Amino acid sequence: MTEQKFDIVVIGGGPGGYVHAIKAAQLGMKVAVVEKNTSLGGTCLNVGCIPSKALLTATHDVQKTKHDFDTFGIELSGVNVNLQKMMKFKQDVVTANTKGVDFLFKKNKIERIKGVGALKDAGTVTVIDDGKTSEIAAKYIVIATGSASIDIPNVPVDEKRIVTSTGALELEKIPATMIVIGGGVIGLEMASVWSRLGTKVTIVEYLDRILPGMDNEVSKEMLKLLTKQGLEFKFATKVTGAKVEGSGVTLTAEPAAGGAAEILNAEIVLVAIGRKPYTDGLNLDAVGVKRDERGRILVDQHFETNIEGVYAIGDVIPGPMLAHKAEDEGFILAEMLAGQTGHIDYNLVPGVVYTFPEAASIGQTEEQLKKAGIEYKAGKFPMMANGRARSINATEGFVKILADAKTDKVLGAHIVAAEAGTLIHEVAVLMEFGGSSEDLARTCHAHPTLNEAVREAALATFALPLHI
Ligand code: FAD
Ligand code: NAI
Repeated sequence: MTEQKFDIVVIGGGPGGYVHAIKAAQLGMKVAVVEKNTSLGGTCLNVGCIPSKALLTATHDVQKTKHDFDTFGIELSGVNVNLQKMMKFKQDVVTANTKGVDFLFKKNKIERIKGVGALKDAGTVTVIDDGKTSEIAAKYIVIATGSASIDIPNVPVDEKRIVTSTGALELEKIPATMIVIGGGVIGLEMASVWSRLGTKVTIVEYLDRILPGMDNEVSKEMLKLLTKQGLEFKFATKVTGAKVEGSGVTLTAEPAAGGAAEILNAEIVLVAIGRKPYTDGLNLDAVGVKRDERGRILVDQHFETNIEGVYAIGDVIPGPMLAHKAEDEGFILAEMLAGQTGHIDYNLVPGVVYTFPEAASIGQTEEQLKKAGIEYKAGKFPMMANGRARSINATEGFVKILADAKTDKVLGAHIVAAEAGTLIHEVAVLMEFGGSSEDLARTCHAHPTLNEAVREAALATFALPLHI
Protein backbone atom coordinates (compact mmCIF):
# COMPACT_ATOMS: atom_id res chain seq x y z
CA MET A 1 0.00 0.00 0.00
CA THR A 2 1.26 3.51 -0.90
CA GLU A 3 2.04 5.68 2.11
CA GLN A 4 -0.61 8.39 2.64
CA LYS A 5 1.39 11.63 2.55
CA PHE A 6 -1.47 13.95 1.65
CA ASP A 7 -4.89 14.84 2.96
CA ILE A 8 -6.01 15.77 -0.56
CA VAL A 9 -4.78 15.01 -4.04
CA VAL A 10 -6.37 17.13 -6.76
CA ILE A 11 -6.35 16.07 -10.41
CA GLY A 12 -6.31 19.23 -12.56
CA GLY A 13 -4.76 22.63 -11.83
CA GLY A 14 -7.43 24.92 -13.36
CA PRO A 15 -9.54 27.49 -11.46
CA GLY A 16 -11.45 24.69 -9.69
CA GLY A 17 -8.40 22.64 -8.73
CA TYR A 18 -5.93 25.38 -7.91
CA VAL A 19 -8.36 27.46 -5.82
CA HIS A 20 -9.40 24.33 -3.94
CA ALA A 21 -5.76 23.51 -3.25
CA ILE A 22 -4.97 27.01 -1.97
CA LYS A 23 -8.00 27.17 0.32
CA ALA A 24 -7.42 23.62 1.64
CA ALA A 25 -3.77 24.46 2.37
CA GLN A 26 -4.84 27.68 4.10
CA LEU A 27 -7.09 25.53 6.29
CA GLY A 28 -4.12 23.38 7.32
CA MET A 29 -4.41 20.40 4.99
CA LYS A 30 -1.54 18.83 3.06
CA VAL A 31 -2.37 19.06 -0.63
CA ALA A 32 -0.89 17.78 -3.90
CA VAL A 33 -2.07 18.85 -7.37
CA VAL A 34 -1.49 16.62 -10.38
CA GLU A 35 -1.46 18.64 -13.62
CA LYS A 36 -0.54 17.30 -17.04
CA ASN A 37 0.22 20.69 -18.61
CA THR A 38 3.56 22.39 -18.09
CA SER A 39 1.78 25.45 -16.68
CA LEU A 40 -0.89 25.65 -14.00
CA GLY A 41 -4.16 27.58 -14.43
CA GLY A 42 -6.09 25.20 -16.69
CA THR A 43 -8.20 26.21 -19.65
CA CYS A 44 -9.07 29.58 -18.13
CA LEU A 45 -5.58 30.98 -17.64
CA ASN A 46 -3.84 29.27 -20.57
CA VAL A 47 -6.32 29.10 -23.45
CA GLY A 48 -9.60 30.58 -22.18
CA CYS A 49 -10.70 33.54 -20.05
CA ILE A 50 -7.35 35.29 -19.77
CA PRO A 51 -5.91 35.17 -23.32
CA SER A 52 -9.35 35.89 -24.82
CA LYS A 53 -9.79 38.95 -22.61
CA ALA A 54 -6.28 40.18 -23.46
CA LEU A 55 -7.15 40.04 -27.18
CA LEU A 56 -10.61 41.50 -26.61
CA THR A 57 -9.07 44.46 -24.78
CA ALA A 58 -6.36 45.05 -27.38
CA THR A 59 -8.76 44.80 -30.31
CA HIS A 60 -11.35 46.98 -28.60
CA ASP A 61 -8.68 49.65 -28.42
CA VAL A 62 -8.08 49.22 -32.16
CA GLN A 63 -11.80 49.73 -32.74
CA LYS A 64 -11.90 52.72 -30.40
CA THR A 65 -8.90 54.30 -32.08
CA LYS A 66 -10.52 53.90 -35.49
CA HIS A 67 -14.05 54.93 -34.57
CA ASP A 68 -14.04 57.05 -31.39
CA PHE A 69 -10.86 59.07 -31.63
CA ASP A 70 -12.19 61.30 -34.37
CA THR A 71 -15.26 62.06 -32.21
CA PHE A 72 -12.93 62.97 -29.33
CA GLY A 73 -10.98 65.28 -31.64
CA ILE A 74 -7.88 63.10 -31.66
CA GLU A 75 -6.52 63.05 -35.17
CA LEU A 76 -4.35 60.13 -36.25
CA SER A 77 -2.96 59.48 -39.68
CA GLY A 78 -3.72 55.75 -39.60
CA VAL A 79 -3.79 52.71 -37.34
CA ASN A 80 -1.40 49.86 -37.88
CA VAL A 81 -1.87 46.53 -36.12
CA ASN A 82 1.22 44.45 -35.41
CA LEU A 83 -0.39 41.06 -34.79
CA GLN A 84 2.81 39.45 -33.54
CA LYS A 85 3.20 42.13 -30.86
CA MET A 86 -0.46 41.82 -29.90
CA MET A 87 -0.04 38.04 -29.54
CA LYS A 88 3.10 38.61 -27.44
CA PHE A 89 1.09 40.91 -25.14
CA LYS A 90 -1.54 38.15 -24.81
CA GLN A 91 1.12 35.52 -24.07
CA ASP A 92 2.83 37.75 -21.49
CA VAL A 93 -0.49 38.21 -19.71
CA VAL A 94 -1.00 34.42 -19.70
CA THR A 95 2.51 33.80 -18.36
CA ALA A 96 2.15 36.42 -15.61
CA ASN A 97 -1.06 34.75 -14.47
CA THR A 98 0.17 31.15 -14.60
CA LYS A 99 3.42 32.12 -12.84
CA GLY A 100 1.24 33.79 -10.22
CA VAL A 101 -0.37 30.42 -9.50
CA ASP A 102 3.11 28.81 -9.21
CA PHE A 103 3.96 31.46 -6.64
CA LEU A 104 0.73 30.82 -4.68
CA PHE A 105 1.47 27.08 -4.66
CA LYS A 106 4.92 27.70 -3.19
CA LYS A 107 3.57 30.19 -0.68
CA ASN A 108 0.94 27.72 0.53
CA LYS A 109 3.29 24.69 0.38
CA ILE A 110 1.17 22.85 -2.16
CA GLU A 111 3.00 20.03 -3.92
CA ARG A 112 2.68 20.27 -7.69
CA ILE A 113 3.07 16.93 -9.43
CA LYS A 114 3.58 16.97 -13.18
CA GLY A 115 1.83 14.19 -15.12
CA VAL A 116 -1.44 12.61 -16.17
CA GLY A 117 -3.47 11.50 -13.19
CA ALA A 118 -5.92 8.60 -13.02
CA LEU A 119 -7.85 6.91 -10.24
CA LYS A 120 -6.42 3.58 -9.10
CA ASP A 121 -8.95 3.22 -6.32
CA ALA A 122 -10.86 5.44 -3.87
CA GLY A 123 -7.67 6.44 -2.06
CA THR A 124 -4.93 6.30 -4.70
CA VAL A 125 -4.06 8.32 -7.81
CA THR A 126 -1.70 6.94 -10.46
CA VAL A 127 0.46 9.53 -12.20
CA ILE A 128 2.17 8.93 -15.52
CA ASP A 129 4.84 11.38 -16.60
CA ASP A 130 7.32 10.79 -19.40
CA GLY A 131 6.60 7.07 -19.34
CA LYS A 132 7.22 6.81 -15.58
CA THR A 133 4.39 5.74 -13.28
CA SER A 134 4.03 6.68 -9.63
CA GLU A 135 1.27 6.47 -7.07
CA ILE A 136 -0.01 9.01 -4.56
CA ALA A 137 -2.27 8.10 -1.70
CA ALA A 138 -4.57 10.59 0.00
CA LYS A 139 -7.60 10.66 2.25
CA TYR A 140 -9.57 12.60 -0.36
CA ILE A 141 -9.30 12.73 -4.16
CA VAL A 142 -10.71 15.77 -5.98
CA ILE A 143 -11.32 15.53 -9.74
CA ALA A 144 -11.09 18.96 -11.42
CA THR A 145 -10.20 17.99 -14.98
CA GLY A 146 -12.39 20.58 -16.69
CA SER A 147 -13.83 20.43 -20.18
CA ALA A 148 -12.99 20.25 -23.88
CA SER A 149 -14.55 21.65 -27.04
CA ILE A 150 -17.42 19.63 -28.59
CA ASP A 151 -16.71 18.34 -32.10
CA ILE A 152 -19.07 18.33 -35.07
CA PRO A 153 -19.10 15.11 -37.13
CA ASN A 154 -17.32 15.59 -40.48
CA VAL A 155 -15.74 18.86 -39.34
CA PRO A 156 -12.17 17.78 -38.51
CA VAL A 157 -10.38 20.27 -36.27
CA ASP A 158 -6.69 20.75 -37.17
CA GLU A 159 -6.23 23.97 -35.10
CA LYS A 160 -4.84 25.68 -38.23
CA ARG A 161 -7.75 26.14 -40.65
CA ILE A 162 -10.55 24.47 -38.71
CA VAL A 163 -9.98 25.64 -35.18
CA THR A 164 -11.47 25.56 -31.69
CA SER A 165 -11.09 28.62 -29.44
CA THR A 166 -7.51 27.47 -28.74
CA GLY A 167 -6.51 27.82 -32.40
CA ALA A 168 -8.57 31.02 -32.79
CA LEU A 169 -6.46 32.61 -30.04
CA GLU A 170 -3.24 31.82 -31.89
CA LEU A 171 -3.79 32.66 -35.56
CA GLU A 172 -0.55 33.86 -37.11
CA LYS A 173 -2.16 36.22 -39.58
CA ILE A 174 -5.41 38.13 -39.80
CA PRO A 175 -7.69 36.03 -42.02
CA ALA A 176 -9.76 37.74 -44.70
CA THR A 177 -12.80 35.61 -43.89
CA MET A 178 -13.94 33.45 -40.99
CA ILE A 179 -17.01 31.32 -40.34
CA VAL A 180 -17.86 30.80 -36.70
CA ILE A 181 -20.09 27.80 -36.01
CA GLY A 182 -22.12 28.66 -32.89
CA GLY A 183 -23.48 32.01 -31.72
CA GLY A 184 -22.73 31.44 -28.05
CA VAL A 185 -20.19 33.07 -25.76
CA ILE A 186 -17.00 31.81 -27.45
CA GLY A 187 -18.46 32.47 -30.90
CA LEU A 188 -19.30 36.10 -30.16
CA GLU A 189 -16.10 36.89 -28.26
CA MET A 190 -13.79 35.39 -30.90
CA ALA A 191 -15.86 36.85 -33.76
CA SER A 192 -15.46 40.27 -32.12
CA VAL A 193 -11.68 39.89 -31.83
CA TRP A 194 -11.11 39.00 -35.48
CA SER A 195 -13.77 41.23 -36.97
CA ARG A 196 -12.23 44.24 -35.17
CA LEU A 197 -8.95 43.36 -36.90
CA GLY A 198 -10.63 43.41 -40.31
CA THR A 199 -11.80 39.82 -40.85
CA LYS A 200 -15.22 39.40 -42.44
CA VAL A 201 -16.94 37.11 -39.96
CA THR A 202 -20.13 35.11 -40.49
CA ILE A 203 -21.70 33.31 -37.56
CA VAL A 204 -23.69 30.18 -38.39
CA GLU A 205 -26.09 29.32 -35.57
CA TYR A 206 -28.37 26.31 -35.27
CA LEU A 207 -31.09 28.17 -33.38
CA ASP A 208 -32.91 31.35 -34.41
CA ARG A 209 -31.09 33.52 -31.85
CA ILE A 210 -27.69 34.21 -30.33
CA LEU A 211 -26.76 33.63 -26.68
CA PRO A 212 -29.43 31.05 -25.86
CA GLY A 213 -30.05 31.00 -22.13
CA MET A 214 -29.63 34.74 -21.69
CA ASP A 215 -32.64 37.04 -21.36
CA ASN A 216 -34.34 37.42 -24.78
CA GLU A 217 -34.09 41.19 -24.71
CA VAL A 218 -30.32 40.96 -24.12
CA SER A 219 -29.92 38.54 -27.05
CA LYS A 220 -31.94 40.83 -29.35
CA GLU A 221 -30.01 43.96 -28.34
CA MET A 222 -26.66 42.18 -28.76
CA LEU A 223 -27.69 40.92 -32.19
CA LYS A 224 -28.62 44.45 -33.24
CA LEU A 225 -25.37 45.97 -31.95
CA LEU A 226 -23.04 43.25 -33.25
CA THR A 227 -24.71 43.39 -36.68
CA LYS A 228 -24.08 47.14 -36.66
CA GLN A 229 -20.42 46.38 -35.95
CA GLY A 230 -20.25 44.31 -39.14
CA LEU A 231 -20.80 40.71 -37.97
CA GLU A 232 -23.07 38.64 -40.20
CA PHE A 233 -25.43 35.98 -38.91
CA LYS A 234 -26.98 32.94 -40.51
CA PHE A 235 -29.62 31.43 -38.23
CA ALA A 236 -31.47 28.10 -38.16
CA THR A 237 -28.61 26.50 -40.06
CA LYS A 238 -26.64 23.35 -39.35
CA VAL A 239 -23.18 22.59 -40.66
CA THR A 240 -22.93 19.05 -41.98
CA GLY A 241 -19.31 18.91 -43.11
CA ALA A 242 -16.09 20.83 -43.72
CA LYS A 243 -13.05 20.22 -45.85
CA VAL A 244 -9.74 22.06 -46.04
CA GLU A 245 -9.17 22.93 -49.69
CA GLY A 246 -6.24 25.01 -50.89
CA SER A 247 -5.94 28.06 -48.70
CA GLY A 248 -9.42 27.83 -47.25
CA VAL A 249 -12.23 25.67 -45.94
CA THR A 250 -15.37 24.57 -47.75
CA LEU A 251 -18.38 24.02 -45.55
CA THR A 252 -21.65 22.32 -46.30
CA ALA A 253 -24.64 23.61 -44.40
CA GLU A 254 -28.35 23.03 -44.51
CA PRO A 255 -31.45 24.51 -42.89
CA ALA A 256 -31.84 23.14 -39.34
CA ALA A 257 -35.39 22.07 -40.23
CA GLY A 258 -34.12 20.17 -43.30
CA GLY A 259 -33.84 21.25 -46.92
CA ALA A 260 -31.33 21.90 -49.65
CA ALA A 261 -27.65 22.03 -48.69
CA GLU A 262 -25.49 25.03 -49.55
CA ILE A 263 -21.74 25.57 -49.81
CA LEU A 264 -19.96 28.21 -47.73
CA ASN A 265 -16.29 29.17 -47.93
CA ALA A 266 -13.90 30.85 -45.51
CA GLU A 267 -10.21 31.06 -44.78
CA ILE A 268 -10.74 29.94 -41.19
CA VAL A 269 -13.59 28.02 -39.53
CA LEU A 270 -14.08 28.21 -35.77
CA VAL A 271 -16.07 25.45 -34.09
CA ALA A 272 -17.76 26.88 -30.97
CA ILE A 273 -20.87 24.80 -30.28
CA GLY A 274 -20.24 24.19 -26.58
CA ARG A 275 -17.91 22.24 -24.33
CA LYS A 276 -18.09 18.76 -22.81
CA PRO A 277 -16.66 17.43 -19.53
CA TYR A 278 -13.12 16.10 -19.89
CA THR A 279 -12.63 12.74 -18.16
CA ASP A 280 -10.40 10.90 -20.66
CA GLY A 281 -8.03 8.39 -19.10
CA LEU A 282 -9.26 8.94 -15.52
CA ASN A 283 -10.27 5.28 -15.16
CA LEU A 284 -13.68 6.32 -13.82
CA ASP A 285 -15.57 3.27 -15.07
CA ALA A 286 -13.16 0.79 -13.49
CA VAL A 287 -13.47 2.57 -10.13
CA GLY A 288 -17.25 2.91 -10.61
CA VAL A 289 -17.62 6.74 -10.57
CA LYS A 290 -21.06 7.53 -11.98
CA ARG A 291 -21.63 10.06 -14.78
CA ASP A 292 -24.80 11.37 -16.42
CA GLU A 293 -25.82 10.96 -20.08
CA ARG A 294 -23.66 13.98 -21.01
CA GLY A 295 -20.57 12.51 -19.35
CA ARG A 296 -20.67 14.89 -16.36
CA ILE A 297 -19.52 13.40 -13.06
CA LEU A 298 -22.47 13.14 -10.68
CA VAL A 299 -21.94 14.60 -7.20
CA ASP A 300 -24.09 15.25 -4.13
CA GLN A 301 -24.45 18.66 -2.42
CA HIS A 302 -21.01 18.13 -0.85
CA PHE A 303 -19.41 17.49 -4.27
CA GLU A 304 -18.88 13.83 -3.34
CA THR A 305 -19.29 11.25 -6.09
CA ASN A 306 -20.96 7.89 -5.47
CA ILE A 307 -17.50 6.63 -4.39
CA GLU A 308 -16.71 7.69 -0.82
CA GLY A 309 -13.72 10.01 -0.61
CA VAL A 310 -13.78 10.89 -4.31
CA TYR A 311 -15.03 14.41 -5.11
CA ALA A 312 -15.45 16.46 -8.29
CA ILE A 313 -15.78 20.20 -9.04
CA GLY A 314 -15.81 22.68 -11.94
CA ASP A 315 -16.61 22.08 -15.60
CA VAL A 316 -16.50 18.31 -15.13
CA ILE A 317 -19.73 18.35 -13.05
CA PRO A 318 -23.18 19.76 -13.97
CA GLY A 319 -23.77 23.54 -13.90
CA PRO A 320 -22.52 26.55 -15.84
CA MET A 321 -19.04 26.04 -17.29
CA LEU A 322 -17.56 29.19 -15.79
CA ALA A 323 -14.28 29.84 -14.02
CA HIS A 324 -15.86 31.62 -11.04
CA LYS A 325 -18.32 28.74 -10.54
CA ALA A 326 -15.38 26.28 -10.54
CA GLU A 327 -13.46 28.53 -8.12
CA ASP A 328 -16.38 28.85 -5.70
CA GLU A 329 -16.90 25.08 -5.72
CA GLY A 330 -13.19 24.57 -5.05
CA PHE A 331 -13.27 27.06 -2.19
CA ILE A 332 -16.31 25.65 -0.43
CA LEU A 333 -15.29 22.02 -0.92
CA ALA A 334 -12.08 22.85 0.95
CA GLU A 335 -14.17 24.33 3.78
CA MET A 336 -16.36 21.24 3.86
CA LEU A 337 -13.39 18.84 3.93
CA ALA A 338 -11.97 20.89 6.81
CA GLY A 339 -15.19 20.30 8.75
CA GLN A 340 -16.65 23.75 8.08
CA THR A 341 -19.72 24.68 6.05
CA GLY A 342 -19.68 26.22 2.60
CA HIS A 343 -22.40 27.61 0.38
CA ILE A 344 -22.98 28.42 -3.27
CA ASP A 345 -26.23 29.74 -4.74
CA TYR A 346 -26.22 28.61 -8.38
CA ASN A 347 -28.97 31.13 -9.15
CA LEU A 348 -26.50 33.87 -8.32
CA VAL A 349 -23.60 32.86 -10.56
CA PRO A 350 -23.20 35.87 -12.88
CA GLY A 351 -22.66 35.36 -16.61
CA VAL A 352 -20.72 37.91 -18.64
CA VAL A 353 -20.04 38.11 -22.37
CA TYR A 354 -16.98 40.30 -22.95
CA THR A 355 -17.95 41.77 -26.29
CA PHE A 356 -18.44 45.51 -26.68
CA PRO A 357 -20.73 46.45 -25.17
CA GLU A 358 -20.62 43.65 -22.62
CA ALA A 359 -23.68 41.57 -21.76
CA ALA A 360 -24.16 40.48 -18.16
CA SER A 361 -26.84 38.53 -16.35
CA ILE A 362 -27.68 37.30 -12.90
CA GLY A 363 -30.68 35.48 -11.43
CA GLN A 364 -33.78 34.74 -13.47
CA THR A 365 -34.59 35.90 -16.99
CA GLU A 366 -38.04 37.23 -17.89
CA GLU A 367 -38.69 34.01 -19.79
CA GLN A 368 -37.85 31.88 -16.72
CA LEU A 369 -40.08 33.99 -14.45
CA LYS A 370 -42.99 33.75 -16.90
CA LYS A 371 -42.54 29.98 -17.21
CA ALA A 372 -42.50 29.62 -13.42
CA GLY A 373 -45.67 31.76 -13.16
CA ILE A 374 -43.95 34.30 -10.89
CA GLU A 375 -45.44 37.79 -11.01
CA TYR A 376 -42.72 40.36 -11.46
CA LYS A 377 -42.08 44.00 -12.26
CA ALA A 378 -39.44 45.01 -14.78
CA GLY A 379 -37.55 48.31 -14.49
CA LYS A 380 -35.46 49.37 -17.44
CA PHE A 381 -33.11 52.26 -18.04
CA PRO A 382 -31.27 53.04 -21.30
CA MET A 383 -27.54 53.79 -21.16
CA MET A 384 -28.28 56.66 -23.57
CA ALA A 385 -29.73 58.60 -20.63
CA ASN A 386 -26.70 58.08 -18.36
CA GLY A 387 -24.31 61.03 -18.21
CA ARG A 388 -21.14 58.99 -17.74
CA ALA A 389 -22.07 56.71 -20.66
CA ARG A 390 -22.34 59.81 -22.85
CA SER A 391 -19.02 61.16 -21.64
CA ILE A 392 -17.21 57.93 -22.53
CA ASN A 393 -19.07 57.72 -25.86
CA ALA A 394 -20.68 54.37 -24.95
CA THR A 395 -24.42 54.97 -24.91
CA GLU A 396 -25.59 51.62 -26.30
CA GLY A 397 -27.57 49.15 -24.21
CA PHE A 398 -29.70 49.17 -21.09
CA VAL A 399 -30.04 47.92 -17.53
CA LYS A 400 -33.06 45.80 -16.67
CA ILE A 401 -33.97 44.84 -13.11
CA LEU A 402 -36.64 42.23 -12.39
CA ALA A 403 -38.30 42.32 -8.97
CA ASP A 404 -41.04 40.27 -7.33
CA ALA A 405 -44.39 42.04 -7.89
CA LYS A 406 -45.47 41.61 -4.26
CA THR A 407 -42.31 41.65 -2.14
CA ASP A 408 -40.08 43.80 -4.40
CA LYS A 409 -37.21 41.28 -3.87
CA VAL A 410 -34.83 41.49 -6.82
CA LEU A 411 -35.06 38.28 -8.89
CA GLY A 412 -32.75 39.09 -11.77
CA ALA A 413 -30.71 41.71 -13.59
CA HIS A 414 -29.75 41.86 -17.25
CA ILE A 415 -27.38 44.45 -18.59
CA VAL A 416 -26.01 45.41 -22.00
CA ALA A 417 -23.48 48.20 -21.49
CA ALA A 418 -19.83 49.15 -21.38
CA GLU A 419 -18.57 47.55 -18.13
CA ALA A 420 -21.75 45.45 -17.75
CA GLY A 421 -19.58 42.71 -16.23
CA THR A 422 -18.57 45.09 -13.47
CA LEU A 423 -21.99 46.71 -13.02
CA ILE A 424 -23.74 43.36 -12.47
CA HIS A 425 -21.89 42.81 -9.20
CA GLU A 426 -23.75 45.43 -7.20
CA VAL A 427 -26.92 43.49 -8.01
CA ALA A 428 -25.12 40.22 -7.17
CA VAL A 429 -24.30 41.46 -3.67
CA LEU A 430 -27.81 42.85 -3.22
CA MET A 431 -29.35 39.52 -4.27
CA GLU A 432 -27.02 37.53 -1.97
CA PHE A 433 -28.53 39.52 0.89
CA GLY A 434 -32.10 39.10 -0.42
CA GLY A 435 -32.41 42.84 -1.12
CA SER A 436 -35.27 44.65 -2.83
CA SER A 437 -35.17 47.01 -5.78
CA GLU A 438 -36.07 49.80 -3.34
CA ASP A 439 -32.95 48.93 -1.26
CA LEU A 440 -30.89 49.34 -4.41
CA ALA A 441 -32.61 52.53 -5.56
CA ARG A 442 -32.28 54.17 -2.14
CA THR A 443 -28.54 53.48 -1.99
CA CYS A 444 -26.64 56.65 -2.80
CA HIS A 445 -24.71 56.17 -6.06
CA ALA A 446 -21.79 58.42 -6.97
CA HIS A 447 -22.26 60.76 -9.91
CA PRO A 448 -21.30 60.50 -12.69
CA THR A 449 -20.98 56.70 -12.86
CA LEU A 450 -22.38 53.97 -15.09
CA ASN A 451 -23.76 52.44 -11.89
CA GLU A 452 -26.34 55.21 -11.73
CA ALA A 453 -28.09 53.40 -14.60
CA VAL A 454 -28.44 50.35 -12.33
CA ARG A 455 -29.97 52.53 -9.66
CA GLU A 456 -32.36 54.13 -12.16
CA ALA A 457 -33.48 50.71 -13.42
CA ALA A 458 -34.16 49.67 -9.80
CA LEU A 459 -36.12 52.89 -9.30
CA ALA A 460 -38.11 52.10 -12.43
CA THR A 461 -39.45 48.85 -10.93
CA PHE A 462 -41.44 50.60 -8.17
CA ALA A 463 -41.52 54.30 -9.06
CA LEU A 464 -40.42 56.47 -11.95
CA PRO A 465 -36.81 56.80 -13.06
CA LEU A 466 -35.51 60.35 -12.63
CA HIS A 467 -33.46 60.92 -15.74
CA ILE A 468 -35.81 59.78 -18.49
P1 FAD B 1 -9.99 23.65 -16.44
O1 FAD B 1 -9.68 25.08 -16.35
O2 FAD B 1 -10.31 23.08 -17.77
O3 FAD B 1 -8.75 22.88 -15.82
C1 FAD B 1 -8.63 21.50 -15.88
C2 FAD B 1 -7.16 21.14 -15.78
O4 FAD B 1 -7.06 19.73 -15.60
C3 FAD B 1 -6.36 21.46 -17.05
O5 FAD B 1 -5.23 22.19 -16.71
C4 FAD B 1 -5.98 20.09 -17.61
O6 FAD B 1 -4.71 20.09 -18.24
C5 FAD B 1 -5.95 19.25 -16.35
N1 FAD B 1 -6.18 17.82 -16.56
C6 FAD B 1 -7.21 17.24 -17.22
N2 FAD B 1 -7.12 15.90 -17.12
C7 FAD B 1 -6.02 15.64 -16.38
C8 FAD B 1 -5.40 14.45 -15.92
N3 FAD B 1 -5.91 13.25 -16.18
N4 FAD B 1 -4.27 14.55 -15.19
C9 FAD B 1 -3.72 15.76 -14.91
N5 FAD B 1 -4.28 16.93 -15.31
C10 FAD B 1 -5.41 16.85 -16.02
N6 FAD B 1 -15.11 31.32 -17.94
C11 FAD B 1 -15.36 32.47 -17.29
O7 FAD B 1 -15.88 32.44 -16.17
N7 FAD B 1 -15.05 33.68 -17.84
C12 FAD B 1 -14.50 33.78 -19.07
O8 FAD B 1 -14.22 34.89 -19.53
C13 FAD B 1 -14.23 32.60 -19.78
N8 FAD B 1 -13.67 32.65 -21.00
C14 FAD B 1 -13.40 31.49 -21.66
C15 FAD B 1 -12.86 31.57 -22.94
C16 FAD B 1 -12.59 30.42 -23.64
C17 FAD B 1 -11.98 30.54 -25.02
C18 FAD B 1 -12.85 29.15 -23.06
C19 FAD B 1 -12.53 27.89 -23.80
C20 FAD B 1 -13.40 29.05 -21.80
C21 FAD B 1 -13.70 30.23 -21.09
N9 FAD B 1 -14.27 30.19 -19.83
C22 FAD B 1 -14.55 31.36 -19.17
C23 FAD B 1 -14.58 28.92 -19.16
C24 FAD B 1 -13.49 28.56 -18.14
O9 FAD B 1 -12.26 28.48 -18.80
C25 FAD B 1 -13.81 27.25 -17.45
O10 FAD B 1 -15.11 27.29 -16.90
C26 FAD B 1 -12.82 26.96 -16.34
O11 FAD B 1 -11.52 26.90 -16.84
C27 FAD B 1 -13.16 25.63 -15.65
O12 FAD B 1 -12.23 25.38 -14.65
P2 FAD B 1 -11.88 23.88 -14.22
O13 FAD B 1 -10.88 24.00 -13.13
O14 FAD B 1 -13.11 23.12 -13.96
O15 FAD B 1 -11.21 23.21 -15.50
P1 NAI C 1 -22.28 28.02 -25.80
O1 NAI C 1 -23.08 26.96 -25.20
O2 NAI C 1 -22.18 29.34 -25.13
O3 NAI C 1 -22.79 28.33 -27.28
C1 NAI C 1 -22.86 27.34 -28.26
C2 NAI C 1 -23.76 27.84 -29.38
O4 NAI C 1 -23.65 26.93 -30.46
C3 NAI C 1 -25.22 27.91 -29.00
O5 NAI C 1 -25.75 29.13 -29.43
C4 NAI C 1 -25.84 26.73 -29.73
O6 NAI C 1 -27.19 26.93 -30.07
C5 NAI C 1 -24.96 26.65 -30.94
N1 NAI C 1 -24.89 25.33 -31.57
C6 NAI C 1 -24.91 24.11 -30.98
N2 NAI C 1 -24.78 23.13 -31.90
C7 NAI C 1 -24.66 23.76 -33.11
C8 NAI C 1 -24.45 23.32 -34.44
N3 NAI C 1 -24.34 22.02 -34.72
N4 NAI C 1 -24.37 24.25 -35.42
C9 NAI C 1 -24.47 25.58 -35.15
N5 NAI C 1 -24.65 26.05 -33.89
C10 NAI C 1 -24.72 25.16 -32.89
O7 NAI C 1 -20.83 27.37 -26.01
P2 NAI C 1 -19.44 28.02 -26.40
O8 NAI C 1 -19.64 29.36 -26.98
O9 NAI C 1 -18.72 26.99 -27.18
O10 NAI C 1 -18.73 28.17 -24.99
C11 NAI C 1 -18.49 27.00 -24.18
C12 NAI C 1 -18.50 27.34 -22.73
O11 NAI C 1 -17.39 28.16 -22.40
C13 NAI C 1 -19.74 28.08 -22.34
O12 NAI C 1 -20.53 27.19 -21.59
C14 NAI C 1 -19.30 29.23 -21.52
O13 NAI C 1 -19.83 29.09 -20.23
C15 NAI C 1 -17.78 29.13 -21.45
N6 NAI C 1 -17.24 30.43 -21.83
C16 NAI C 1 -17.50 31.51 -21.05
C17 NAI C 1 -17.07 32.75 -21.40
C18 NAI C 1 -17.42 33.90 -20.53
O14 NAI C 1 -17.84 33.68 -19.41
N7 NAI C 1 -17.26 35.12 -21.00
C19 NAI C 1 -16.29 33.00 -22.59
C20 NAI C 1 -16.10 31.80 -23.38
C21 NAI C 1 -16.54 30.58 -22.97
